[in-house]
Amino acid sequence: VSDRVLRPLERGHLPALAALIADPDVLRFTRIPVPVPDGFVDAWFGSYEAGRRDGTRAGFAIEDAGGGFLGLALAPEIDREARTVELGYIVAPAARGRGVATAALRELTAWTFNAVGALRIELRISVDNPASKRVAERCGYALEGVMRSVYVKPGLREDVELWSRLAGDGASPQ
Ligand SMILES: CC(C)(COP(=O)(O)OP(=O)(O)OC[C@H]1O[C@@H](n2cnc3c(N)ncnc32)[C@H](O)[C@@H]1OP(=O)(O)O)[C@@H](O)C(=O)NCCC(=O)NCCS
Repeated sequence: VSDRVLRPLERGHLPALAALIADPDVLRFTRIPVPVPDGFVDAWFGSYEAGRRDGTRAGFAIEDAGGGFLGLALAPEIDREARTVELGYIVAPAARGRGVATAALRELTAWTFNAVGALRIELRISVDNPASKRVAERCGYALEGVMRSVYVKPGLREDVELWSRLAGDGASPQ
């Protein structure tokens, strides 16, 4: 979608990140620890800065045409040798339900194949997160199976679906 862009995360996004992690769905469906430790946002941002330098992680803000913050499009793990990348996405509560995550994952997927040279992209999605499964499906990902009793973070083990898309898969559905 041309009126939305992915922009590399920068310090100026920190207040928006802090607001984002106050949302209950974000805390429920991501690996962010609960309760969120003091200094988490700074440390988390720092890990993406380090990852950008050594090529093991990448984080983008999803922005609207006016530069407004809509959410995050993330590559939390880039394995160059295996040419395998894990992706994730978070949309701010006020921006949900209008295709923002789907557009962002399409763009992030293209970046991962074209700029990173990945052959395999993985998404890990809670069995209890139907909106995220729908995003994966609309972006051409295939459900590989359910990993049982996965450790997500302190206090949370749950069944997690593994979705993937390969460089050789056909074009993404519209
Ligand atoms: C999951 C999330 C990223 C979706 O963002 P979004 O911008 O609202 O997503 P989109 O609008 O692109 O698509 C959502 C799709 O799910 C569908 N959907 C939403 N809630 C649903 C529900 N409860 N059951 C089934 N489908 C649902 C929508 O109808 C839409 O499908 P459609 O395009 O076929 O109509 C957002 O809810 C979020 O940030 N949640 C918290 C963090 C999170 O879960 N991240 C993903 C971790 S794997």
